[in-house]
Formats: sequence, C-alpha cells, structure tokens
Amino acid sequence: MRFFAQFSRFCAQIGGFMSRNIAIFASGNGTNAENIIKYFSGNKDIKVKIVMANKTDAFVLERAHRLGIPTLYINREQWADATHILTLLHEQQIDFIVLAGFLARIPDALLHAYPNRIVNIHPSLLPKFGGKGMYGNKVHEAVVAAGETESGITIHYLNEHYDEGQIIAQYRCPVMPNDTPQDVATRVHALEYEYYPKVIEQLLIALPATDEDKA
Ligand code: GAR
Repeated sequence: MRFFAQFSRFCAQIGGFMSRNIAIFASGNGTNAENIIKYFSGNKDIKVKIVMANKTDAFVLERAHRLGIPTLYINREQWADATHILTLLHEQQIDFIVLAGFLARIPDALLHAYPNRIVNIHPSLLPKFGGKGMYGNKVHEAVVAAGETESGITIHYLNEHYDEGQIIAQYRCPVMPNDTPQDVATRVHALEYEYYPKVIEQLLIALPATDEDKA
C-alpha cells in the first residue's frame, strides 16, 4: 500500500490531477456506498456523481438520496443490454465505476468501455470463498464453517468472471474459534469502511488520462 500511495503521488505530480467522476453500482443495504459518498464529499477533484441499483427496493437508493446524490434504478433488460447504461455514464462524464455490494453481472460492453476502471470489493481473501453465488453473509458463513483462522477483504478489478479480476489490495482480520458469521461480518465491514475509499482515491490519482481527457 505504501508503494502504491507513493506511485500515485508521483503520477499526480508529473501529470497534474484531473477531476474524476465516480458511479457507484449497488444492490442492497449500501453501507459501503454511503461510506464512500461521505469520504469524497467536499473533495473538489473526486465526485460521486450517481448511484445506480438493479433493485427497486435497494436501501442504497435511500441512503444516497439522503446524502444528495442522484440515484437511478436500472432494470434487468437495461443491465443486460448496456447501451442505455453506457449512454447514461457518458452523459454524466463517469471516469470510474465502483461496485459496492453489486450482485448482478456487468455486461462485457461495459467492461470494454471501462478497462481497469471498474473495481469491486469482496468480503473474503480471494481466491478463497469467491465465485458466483458467494456474496455477503454467505461468504462469512462459509468462512466459519471451514474453520478459517483469518478472513478479510479483497479489492480487485472487474473482469468477465466472478471475483477473478486482478487483485489490487487485500486486508486481513482474525477469525476466532467461537466467532459467528455475524462476528466475522462486523470485522470485515470495518476493514471495508477503512480501506475501500482510500484505495479508490489512490487509483483515481494514478488513473491515466484518456483521449477524451486530453481533448
Ligand atoms: C459488502 O460486504 C461487500 O463486500 C459484499 O456485499 C456487502 C455489501 O454491504 N460484496 C459481495 O459479496 C460481492 N461478491 P453493503 O451493501 O452494506 O455495502
């Protein structure tokens, strides 16, 4: 992480920092989304421009609304097609996409449009306890059932396979012999809140300029 921060600062110094817009995709409660929104509020260069959800009743929509961030529900057909989302992202001048508890598949067209510009957080030390169907509490239940002595978080780029994109950073926490899945979840969430916004910030500082940026 220290090398990562130094490299980011170096890039910022030689390149000059361009302002960056984030879109957050989420499906559920949205505590990470809220934490990220709060972390960047007041930042003149990095803005959370929109929160998009694939479920009408996702509580993340309420959280973002309360914090004054525009929200959008996108239905299943629109996610699958991607044209509609790409138009929206372009209109909002989105540079970077952050998945925060987003449980649907990201269409390939979006991956191609945002190479190394879509990141995900997973609540385990990948490659352990990842893959389709492994999310949220299911992960913590599996960690406890397997008798693991540690768990943690993985922040990674997105690719076309669930939880297999290049790992950017991992942070660890202990799992005690009598821990319940909820105990593990609490410790893992604490890591998420502490590190996800900081890693996103470092990635944005180091983000190379695109042709559109230079135009
Ligand atoms: C987080 O723990 C995140 O790591 C996990 O969902 C939770 C969302 O919580 N993501 C996955 O499991 C992705 N496979 P939140 O809605 O309160 O931020």
